[in-house]
Amino acid sequence: MEFSVKSGNPEKQRTACVVVGVFEPRKLTPSAQRLDELTSGYLSNLLRRGDLEGKLDQTLLLHNVENTLCDRILLIGCGKERDLNDQQYHQIIAKAISILNETGSMEAVFYLTELSVKGRDNAWKVRHAVEAAQHALYCFNQLKSQKYKTTRRPLRKTVLIVPNRRELSNGEKAIREGLAIAQGTSLARDLGNLPGNICTPSFLVERAQALRKIYANISLEVLEESDMEELGMGALLAVARGSREDAKLIILEYKNHPNSEEKPIVLVGKGVTFDAGGISLKSANAMDEMKFDMCGAASVLGALNAIAELQLPINLTVIIPATENLPDGQAVKPGDIVTSLCGTTIEILNTDAEGRLILCDALSYAERFEPTTVIDVATLTGACVVALGKHAIGLFSNHHPLANELLNAGKESNDKAWEMPLWEEYQPQLKSNFADLANIGGAEGGMITAACFLSRFTKKFHWAHLDIAGVAWKNGGKKGATGRPVALLSQFLIDRANTET
Ligand code: BES
Ligand code: MN
Ligand code: ZN
Repeated sequence: MEFSVKSGNPEKQRTACVVVGVFEPRKLTPSAQRLDELTSGYLSNLLRRGDLEGKLDQTLLLHNVENTLCDRILLIGCGKERDLNDQQYHQIIAKAISILNETGSMEAVFYLTELSVKGRDNAWKVRHAVEAAQHALYCFNQLKSQKYKTTRRPLRKTVLIVPNRRELSNGEKAIREGLAIAQGTSLARDLGNLPGNICTPSFLVERAQALRKIYANISLEVLEESDMEELGMGALLAVARGSREDAKLIILEYKNHPNSEEKPIVLVGKGVTFDAGGISLKSANAMDEMKFDMCGAASVLGALNAIAELQLPINLTVIIPATENLPDGQAVKPGDIVTSLCGTTIEILNTDAEGRLILCDALSYAERFEPTTVIDVATLTGACVVALGKHAIGLFSNHHPLANELLNAGKESNDKAWEMPLWEEYQPQLKSNFADLANIGGAEGGMITAACFLSRFTKKFHWAHLDIAGVAWKNGGKKGATGRPVALLSQFLIDRANTET
């Protein structure tokens, strides 16, 4: 879809549809008010008659309204004015977009950017309108034989209103950012939604190659299992043993910092393309959802795509350990002890705690880039879903300022994280009688002990861990990848680029 910004009055818009908001109960927003005055109270009459209360998700489409130049006016319920927060703003935009797409308007002018969202400026509202719109229009049908129940007249152009001409250039920048983040999010959703028989470790390599081809300042290196053996990545290789697909360690380097010697920020993404649990086999219930166990990898690729699209002046390295976790005669067994890349020995008491095994080797590998900051992203624990549900990302960090940067980026991007404790008190749960470390920490605080495990491998840099087990996909009728936390990561990198230059 095409987006642009514009300023001007609603009655002057020669367009298929003008979109304006109505608050509950029956309160017109400023542009709706203006249209009402020019139509001798047509809108307020409809509201009084009870056609629209203004509740969130309510809509009313009007045709050929007198004294206007547009074909239609779409009224969108915005809920209570005082409740209007970031989340509701997204919901309002998404609703408007899906109605327009279904009702024949190929072009629309949005006055919803005039809604006041607490603490948000015009640029925020424009950027987030773009993101919410693209999110609403996303559909994954590449594996259906009947491609489209084609929308006969899909929405093609969205014009977002800013209050005056001085806001136009800010608005255009916001559109560029919104589109880049939406593109990264959509890539992450596609990869997440693809099934395990298609989205294998080699498939992730292909997608990494595709990114390298598009952006000249991205380079790619792929380590094969033989390379991992040579390096001594015993933990990652242990997980890969039970799989017939070759494991890969994917390393992408994006270089665009004005000082080319600048040490990079490193993003590490868990890329388990299917997690059956290994010999500690999972139960059959909802096991299909373990195709989403590479959503960490998908999100770091998505963030890389977004920042490369924006050509941010930073250096960024993305590392993806990619493998399946399956049971097999060759598979790693409970009780097996392996030596990780940094020499720490690990007793694998449960082969289903595989994420931390592949991540610990990837995190040790990150050291060679002498990074300023390392962030790993992983669908790491079921305990994360129990603790935080499907809304918050679990955030851990060994460096307070970094934790705060990420928490703020989450708020700004409507991709929120919640900080969890990474205290020494939890570390004894990882004691092993036979090795340096056990790969599970018992029933209590499972999300925390998983993070504690990773913290043993991240002493040499500022590090944060994002457990996205709850947020990476939705289940039930709307089953599918969300693309989170591409928006948070992109925001974090945008903020870094702004403070560094
Ligand atoms: N990928 C799973 C975590 C997961 C489970 C995410 C369900 C989302 C929904 C991870 O590899 C795993 O299996 N973790 C185990 C760890 C346990 C054995 C200590 C878990 O959470 O049950
Ligand atoms: Mn597992
Ligand atoms: Zn897993």
